[in-house]
Amino acid sequence: MDRREFLRRLGLASGAVMVDDRAEEWLWLGSKGVRAVEVPTVTQVGSVITWQTRQPCPSLLQVLSPDGSKSHFESAEVVEDHGLAVTGLRASTDYRFQLLSPTNGQVWYEGRFRTLPAAEGKRLARFAVIADPHVGEMEAGHIGFPDFSFTKGYKSWDPNNPHWRFTLRACLEEINALGPDLLVFAGDLSTHDKPEEYRLVRTLLEDLRPAFPVFYARGNHDIPHAQTAEDNFKKGFGLEESFQAFPVGEVAFLLPDFIDRTSKTGRAKVRTEDLRRFSDDLKKYADRPTFVINHHQLLSRRRPIDWADTGDADRLIDVLLREGNPWLMLCGHVHGADLTLLGNGGRIIPQVALPACKDYPCGYGLVTVYEHSVQYNFHRPLDPWCLRWTNLTRGMYYGLAPKLNYGRVGERNALFMRG
Ligand SMILES: [Fe+2]
Ligand SMILES: [Fe+2]
Repeated sequence: MDRREFLRRLGLASGAVMVDDRAEEWLWLGSKGVRAVEVPTVTQVGSVITWQTRQPCPSLLQVLSPDGSKSHFESAEVVEDHGLAVTGLRASTDYRFQLLSPTNGQVWYEGRFRTLPAAEGKRLARFAVIADPHVGEMEAGHIGFPDFSFTKGYKSWDPNNPHWRFTLRACLEEINALGPDLLVFAGDLSTHDKPEEYRLVRTLLEDLRPAFPVFYARGNHDIPHAQTAEDNFKKGFGLEESFQAFPVGEVAFLLPDFIDRTSKTGRAKVRTEDLRRFSDDLKKYADRPTFVINHHQLLSRRRPIDWADTGDADRLIDVLLREGNPWLMLCGHVHGADLTLLGNGGRIIPQVALPACKDYPCGYGLVTVYEHSVQYNFHRPLDPWCLRWTNLTRGMYYGLAPKLNYGRVGERNALFMRG
């Protein structure tokens, strides 16, 4: 165990010791003054690379193909939090990349990535997913009670522009520019289920005037705090039903609502009538690729799943593997990237958990549906505030946020073959 790991474990055990993660990472990458180098997105034709420098400087990046050719990507903006989109790549190809000193061209850091395989067939649809914006949250990285936290909490440097506002706005702006067929929220839009929290989401959307429809799945934060209270989530988004199923073009979407309203810890629960409804909705759209957006995961190798009874999740998996034509399930709630394959030896359904929109690793999902495959990519906005906030909140959970929430590259970027 190295010193860094020892300090982290000591911190976790005592609940009191904070590790200066930034100082440790400067040492880790040597004297070059580069840290937090990440490749959040890899597609067939491009990637996104983000990093931080000790001193503000322009961004300079070189990508090397297997045949030895080099491409340069740069930005003249003088910043500490860097992010560049790499374009013009070939599918299924191994690339090296180098971060260069803008003053003398010295190689500060070298890494590699492999582009996704080419997707074949006609494109049927493209949709964006945002999970866990948590509008109204006071601090990010808070674990504990309202008045006491075991961990260090993070707040925006501008009290008039809280983290949930600028992260959600940046995600929405990028999505708007991409122009998908629809946008789906995967729950926990609010933090306290207050009407004004839902209103703020609506206001941000209205400011952008998106040309695509927006749909909302409920999260465990989006429930009335008393069983008899008003359903602010449904009212906030003008929903008649929170258990939703609908077609969009040649594909279909299921946004079930399995949130347990009696749970104080944010669990999910399956009532018999909801199980039947879920099964019926799957059967109804059996003639087209169907996408299920559910706030809670059904299965995870990493984390305990948050269901009132694990048998509930098993019953849903059983239905998914038997009924209709589900291609992919997308979840939020865990605030980190996690890919699990649900399967029974015949049908296999990928279950993708999206990182939160509101803090590290900070971003949204983009799903492209083809005739015979479906592509998922996690995108981190290249907005300067988002990059700064992402680098700050890497320190959450005693500096363990990268281990807990970032996931492997294949959990953020994948091409799944279907039928
Ligand atoms: Fe949640
Ligand atoms: Fe959440």
